[in-house]
Amino acid sequence: MPERIQKPPRHWRKEIAFILISQEQLARRVHALARQIEKDFAGRDLVIVALLNGTVVFLADLLRRLSLPLRLDFIGVSSYGGGTESAELVFTKELRLDVSGRDVLVVDDILDTGKTLAQVMIKLRKLRPRRMKICVLLDKPSRRVEPVRAHYIGFEIPNHFVVGYGLDYAERYRNLPFVGVLRPEMFQHPDFIPLLSAKKRLLLQGVKTTMEGSAKDLNHG
Ligand code: PRP
Repeated sequence: MPERIQKPPRHWRKEIAFILISQEQLARRVHALARQIEKDFAGRDLVIVALLNGTVVFLADLLRRLSLPLRLDFIGVSSYGGGTESAELVFTKELRLDVSGRDVLVVDDILDTGKTLAQVMIKLRKLRPRRMKICVLLDKPSRRVEPVRAHYIGFEIPNHFVVGYGLDYAERYRNLPFVGVLRPEMFQHPDFIPLLSAKKRLLLQGVKTTMEGSAKDLNHG
């Protein structure tokens, strides 16, 4: 059955091919995730550990919907390297809160190859939390390299190059209120190419550029 293509607002149409997840879908899903997390962490000493930078928009919406006591901290992660799949991860901000013996919920915007979260989990495990769960807004299982599994997933998506709601292309588009698919013309845009990380360049290879597949609501709570 053909899917209904949601057009982005006029001022974004030159750059964004179509909306994959609308503002309304995001709001409903974040609300449902918050309910599940509240249920699972009720009565626990919860520390939310969010990964910078892409998670900020999703995190801000999720936090405001969580009606339980919690503490918040951030880990900064950046990937460097000369365009190889083994590009190294560098921690640009360390955790400050003590998570030992506490329940930790790691929040990120997207689970792609899993390399970032695999390393973050190794690092956090050494701090001896009582238990750790992962919450991601988007999951791209087709790209997975590391065996990482998220316990809370907003949407499972096909291998599109997505931007918006925190996700960027050359640090742009994080402020879009929806998750959109970038037009392939933008992949070669001379203003953006020099600003792309090695990781993003790799990601552009092999992405789907047509409306194939849609975003699936998921909750692995
Ligand atoms: C993105 C995202 C995840 C990571 C997922 O970060 O925020 O942390 O990639 O990819 P992986 O599963 O293949 O490791 P990015 O490096 O684009 O930085 P950002 O958070 O600043 O956007």
